[in-house]
Amino acid sequence: MKILVTGGAGFIASHIVDALIEHGNQVVVVDNLSTGFKRNLNPRAKFYHISITDKKLAEIFDIEKPDIVSHHAAQMVVARSVRDPIFDASENILGGLNVILNCVRTRVKKIIYASSGGAVYGEPQAFPVSENYPINPVSQYGVSKHVMEHYLYLYNVLEGLDYTVLRYSNVYGPRQNPAGEAGVVAIFAGQMLRGEQPAIFGDGTKTRDYTFVSDIVQANLLAMEHGSKSICNIGTGIETSDKKMFDILARIFHFEKEPIFTAARKGEVYRISLNNSLARRELGWEPRFSLEKGLEMSADYYRQINTTK
Ligand SMILES: NC(=O)c1ccc[n+]([C@@H]2O[C@H](COP(=O)([O-])OP(=O)(O)OC[C@H]3O[C@@H](n4cnc5c(N)ncnc54)[C@H](O)[C@@H]3O)[C@@H](O)[C@H]2O)c1
Repeated sequence: MKILVTGGAGFIASHIVDALIEHGNQVVVVDNLSTGFKRNLNPRAKFYHISITDKKLAEIFDIEKPDIVSHHAAQMVVARSVRDPIFDASENILGGLNVILNCVRTRVKKIIYASSGGAVYGEPQAFPVSENYPINPVSQYGVSKHVMEHYLYLYNVLEGLDYTVLRYSNVYGPRQNPAGEAGVVAIFAGQMLRGEQPAIFGDGTKTRDYTFVSDIVQANLLAMEHGSKSICNIGTGIETSDKKMFDILARIFHFEKEPIFTAARKGEVYRISLNNSLARRELGWEPRFSLEKGLEMSADYYRQINTTK
């Protein structure tokens, strides 16, 4: 099969590209390298350096005629969406709509969309949160990620475009950028390896549901075959506080300094964890990597890039 992956030079989708190629698929990557890197690009993928907001995206769809589209390109930093909501909406809503319209026009069989279970529910009161819980995002990013879900439903009803929405929890693992503005595991790992004191936004009790990137890849492979017209949470259901994450990483890296506690950031939810029962039923997915195992594997990667810099 031919699969077009948007954001395929980024953290998550570059792993998806590798797995798709390993499974014998032809892969086309569309990425503007705004937060992605050439070094993440699989040499066996065909690469187009272009924004998903560009009208010329249509030419790529016409040339490549993909069977399936995996849509991962996005502005993915909550804090940036709060600072610059117009930019966030332009990339995530208008760019996303451009991708969907091209899927419809060229009769793509299915689109798999990376949504955010960490952002679309806002501040739920019941944990782990299920897909039928009210959607009340508390950041512009949460809004823009959710709007795409409406368009996918709409273009299925109007034009028969099939889709699976995967609402990821917090994803971590090799290739997440330690110099980025989001991705606490990568940021803490980079800081600890440089001997710098990591900053925790808030008092350390904020929680997140951490899923290892290989488990996310598996969910995407399963969604190629299963989960027609469905929206599934992809998470572990386990909450880990910021302070606990700091402590685990400090132990792994033998880091002895204390964290710095600074003001909580606007738009960041206080608690989140995702109920994954639907993904188990619809996709046959389950998380395989424990937090400890995933963090050890991530730590190996950060040690390696720290010494090869
Ligand atoms: N990392 C997480 O914890 C997480 C959680 C939930 C959802 N997601 C979603 O998963 C997707 C991938 O996130 P990631 O963590 O790998 O981030 P990332 O920043 O590493 O990857 C995004 C990729 O998209 C590219 N991109 C951005 N804007 C683009 C544009 N206009 N045109 C073409 N390419 C563009 C970037 O260059 C980058 O390669 C995003 O849609 C994000 O919203 C991520």
